[in-house]
Amino acid sequence: MTINKFNSANLNPGQKVAVKYFIAAMLLFVAQIVFGLIAGAQYLMPELFYNVLDFSVVRMVHINAMIIWMLFGFMGAIYWLVEDEAGRPLVGVFWANLAFWLFSIAVTIVVLVYLFIQIGPGTRETLWLINEGREYIEAPRWADIGIVICVLIFFYNIAATFMKGKWSGISGVLVLDLVALAGLYLAGMWYTPNISMDQYWWWWVIHMWVEATWEVLVGCIMAWGLIKVLGAKRTVVTTWLYIEVALMFGSGILGIGHHYFWIGTPEYWLTIGGFFSALEPVPLVGMVVHAVYDSGKHDFKNNNHPAMAWLIAHAFGNFFGAGVFGFMHTLPQINLYTHGTQWSASHGHFAFFGAYATICIAVFYIAVQKWRGDVYMSGDTKGAWRWKWSCILLNLGVVGMTMALLVSGYDQTFIERAQEGATWGGYFKAQLSTWFQQGMWWRQVFGYVTAAGIVLLVWDLLTIGKNETKEIVEV
Ligand code: HEM
Ligand code: HEM
Ligand SMILES: [Fe+2]
Repeated sequence: MTINKFNSANLNPGQKVAVKYFIAAMLLFVAQIVFGLIAGAQYLMPELFYNVLDFSVVRMVHINAMIIWMLFGFMGAIYWLVEDEAGRPLVGVFWANLAFWLFSIAVTIVVLVYLFIQIGPGTRETLWLINEGREYIEAPRWADIGIVICVLIFFYNIAATFMKGKWSGISGVLVLDLVALAGLYLAGMWYTPNISMDQYWWWWVIHMWVEATWEVLVGCIMAWGLIKVLGAKRTVVTTWLYIEVALMFGSGILGIGHHYFWIGTPEYWLTIGGFFSALEPVPLVGMVVHAVYDSGKHDFKNNNHPAMAWLIAHAFGNFFGAGVFGFMHTLPQINLYTHGTQWSASHGHFAFFGAYATICIAVFYIAVQKWRGDVYMSGDTKGAWRWKWSCILLNLGVVGMTMALLVSGYDQTFIERAQEGATWGGYFKAQLSTWFQQGMWWRQVFGYVTAAGIVLLVWDLLTIGKNETKEIVEV
């Protein structure tokens, strides 16, 4: 029996760096799920780990792990494709490795500090050393600065490689997008005691990342992925990419107004935010149509079935999770009632998973294929049940959690907001209502389904293609 070992001789220098990022991303993905399960369990048993591992800390680790693993996944994806696109070796391999280790060590220290220092007063010192206090980007100031340095190294490496090699439509969009992505992070780094101003700038990072720069980034990865996996025509995907990027920035930038409805910003944001954010699903429709069109044109014939399955999951997940579930609560007339309820969590889970987890997983499969020596990977290889079932369980689990949270969110909207007029008493009445609590139970059940999916995913990534003798099919 042949055994195809993971063999780094199959990889170019950029791809060797990428594999490190992918492994770290998967580890953090697993950590995200573990902490998600604990946070969900604490909704059902509020005394669980009380004063040992508090909900606030568990939740923070859950979502911080997510942001970091996705960033690792994206950086890995770009290191993976850069030499292919530029037609020359990566300029600074040493620096790329250094940045990887610095970043990973910083993340480890930050998480250990979160875990060991659970509570305490916030001061200027804690801002620098423990926690900066902005949801999703709570990392303390010293780590912020470290992250900026690592991102600058990354940016230099990618831009300089293209500059010394050749440019393409995809790489041009990619590099401009990285400038915006790094620049926006700075908006989340300075301190103001005014909570309205703080929220105002904080959304520049959060909204502008996930609804503008990250979307463009995954647009580039998708374009490249369709060329690699399906053999799609470069001129076709590049044209689509330009259209999608124009629409995305056209709606996403002013769409930030949907977070400015109730934080003390001027009233005109109700109109601007409602109008532009309502247009945000349009480019996402374009992305689904594009992916399905390209797949249909190639009779869905491709050289990596699991990767293709996840690319399709991305196209639909992005459209439904971000587009449809975002649209549902984006008009101020509706958001008045849904804001700050489990609606947000419902949309948040579906969108982050559907838009970003999926495409990272697709790239992991593209990478594993080459690392094993370009073996055939299809729906009928031995052990294919693993990738199929992990794909089914992960998607089913997250959609199940999304629906459970939506039921809870509806209940909060009716009881807490409509009936009780958003009072403190109304908040508790909603929390204690039967439907809300059942939603929390179902979220946990589907959380375990998601967890089963990730166990299979890890197992599959470690084994797929190991005993495969057939070579890749050329597309
Ligand atoms: C992949 C893209 C997206 C991701 C990852 C995402 C994720 C999230 C998350 C996590 C939140 C909760 C933030 C918090 O903690 O307060 C949120 C809020 C929100 N999102 Fe999205 N979103 C995406 C796209 C969209 C789109 C396209 C729309 C509109 C069409 C939208 C509309 C909203 C609105 C209105 C809120 C505020 C909810 C509230 O009032 O609490 N999102 N989003
Ligand atoms: C085992 C599966 C999971 C469970 C049990 C779980 C549970 C939770 C819980 C309890 C919270 C806190 C909600 C609150 O404050 O009310 C949360 C927040 C969040 N989780 Fe998960 N989670 C899981 C998987 C995931 C996955 C796969 C993703 C995305 C890839 C994700 C993304 C998020 C986001 C974005 C938030 C913040 C939502 C907001 O601010 O509204 N989670 N999760
Ligand atoms: Fe937004």
